[in-house]
Amino acid sequence: MDTPSPLDVDRAHLIHPLHHPSAHAGTRVWVSGRGAVITDSTGRDYIDGLSGLWNVNVGHGRQELADAARQQMVTLAFHSSYAGGTNEQAIALAERLSRLAYPSINTFFFTSGGAEASETSFKTARFYWKALGKPDKTKIISRHRAYHGLTLAAMSATGLPAFWPMFEPRTPGFLHIAAPDPYRFVNTTPDVSLGVAAANALEDAILREGPETVAAFIAEPIQGAGGVIIPPADYFARIREICARHDVLFIADDVITGFGRTGRWFGLEHYGVEPDIMQFAKGITSGYVPLGGVGVSDTVRDVINGVPPGKRWMHAFTYSGHPTCCAVALANLDIIERERLVERSATAGARLLEKLRTLEAVEGVGHVRGQGLMAAVEVVADKSTRSLFPAEAGMTQKLTDAMLERGVYTRVAMDCICIAPPLVTTDAQLDQIVDTVRDAVTQVVGSLSAHHP
Ligand SMILES: Cc1ncc(COP(=O)(O)O)c(C=O)c1O
Repeated sequence: MDTPSPLDVDRAHLIHPLHHPSAHAGTRVWVSGRGAVITDSTGRDYIDGLSGLWNVNVGHGRQELADAARQQMVTLAFHSSYAGGTNEQAIALAERLSRLAYPSINTFFFTSGGAEASETSFKTARFYWKALGKPDKTKIISRHRAYHGLTLAAMSATGLPAFWPMFEPRTPGFLHIAAPDPYRFVNTTPDVSLGVAAANALEDAILREGPETVAAFIAEPIQGAGGVIIPPADYFARIREICARHDVLFIADDVITGFGRTGRWFGLEHYGVEPDIMQFAKGITSGYVPLGGVGVSDTVRDVINGVPPGKRWMHAFTYSGHPTCCAVALANLDIIERERLVERSATAGARLLEKLRTLEAVEGVGHVRGQGLMAAVEVVADKSTRSLFPAEAGMTQKLTDAMLERGVYTRVAMDCICIAPPLVTTDAQLDQIVDTVRDAVTQVVGSLSAHHP
């Protein structure tokens, strides 16, 4: 009998994220990576246009991170961080983050990834209001096209409806407002800017629900999985004001936008405001080992520390403060600082955006946007109406495949080709990504137009 191929074994034994056999037909087996390049089992190289899943910020193949993991594993791979125990790596990482994060955020809880960070934020927001004698403040407001993770509450905060139907009912008390999408938000109040109008939707929702029932508002500084939506410059100042006015905690989901992705350490730095709670994951270890977490403002920390023992923050997680993961994070931060990758993201991103903007002349390219090394090219059927191709056109798969065939790995979300390569990607590789997007869109849109003249 023939030995089954790895893909046969995969199909027999693995369930993948977003699983369906139809999505797994042309599957690549990824075997190695170096810098911004990944290699599949046939030996073909691709530019990693999405840094894995928006997380391999320092690029692939870093010996230094493997050394940090090995050193910690042979010393103390794991022990519990439950109150009453701690470890040097978690302590050092929390202290370091307090210097890097928003000034008012100095205290941290570690998880394994972003969804657990979302859960932690939601539970902490509820805890905060209960501790302050406002137990009815429990609702969480988020935005359409948001992505906050796979757990039931994070899924309920997620504003991409495709994630919901087969897992409903969603957690009660989660609602959504429109995304501040400069390309698609319809401003019906022209006396104010688009950014202010989009933020005012939060105040409308809070007033409709009753401020005494709303615990928090959660937002990605730049929405990633929803198609790289970059809010106007005045959006978050207004959001901050509305949250303060109605006693609603503001949670920044920096899971993608953290650790240099946007050309700053964290996403809200572009907007000059600070959250009450921030969450992070992905880039903190560049994906070499799983780690996420939340940071809380000094005010929130004081409330957590101020309750009597019987009302303690009863939120527990085996892998919180995992010494090996924290050791890798510290080594990863060393690389980001030593190689000035945050600055690199800003300058390379500005150059990338300038080149991507030339694609706006291409048939089918509706909008191009970017901040640091986080960008998107949105493909439309009609540039004047901004309408998308019908779902039957299968643009997501077609564009993803066309990019891959030309040697660039990326993801396509609602016909937005997302681009978030490692912060070490060279200018020549970035130019190759731009050329590949041009070719892929021209071919895919051209073939559709040929079928539907
Ligand atoms: C903004 C944001 N929040 C949360 C998550 C969930 O993170 P994880 O997949 O690590 O649970 C993601 C994942 O893509 C994300 O982009």
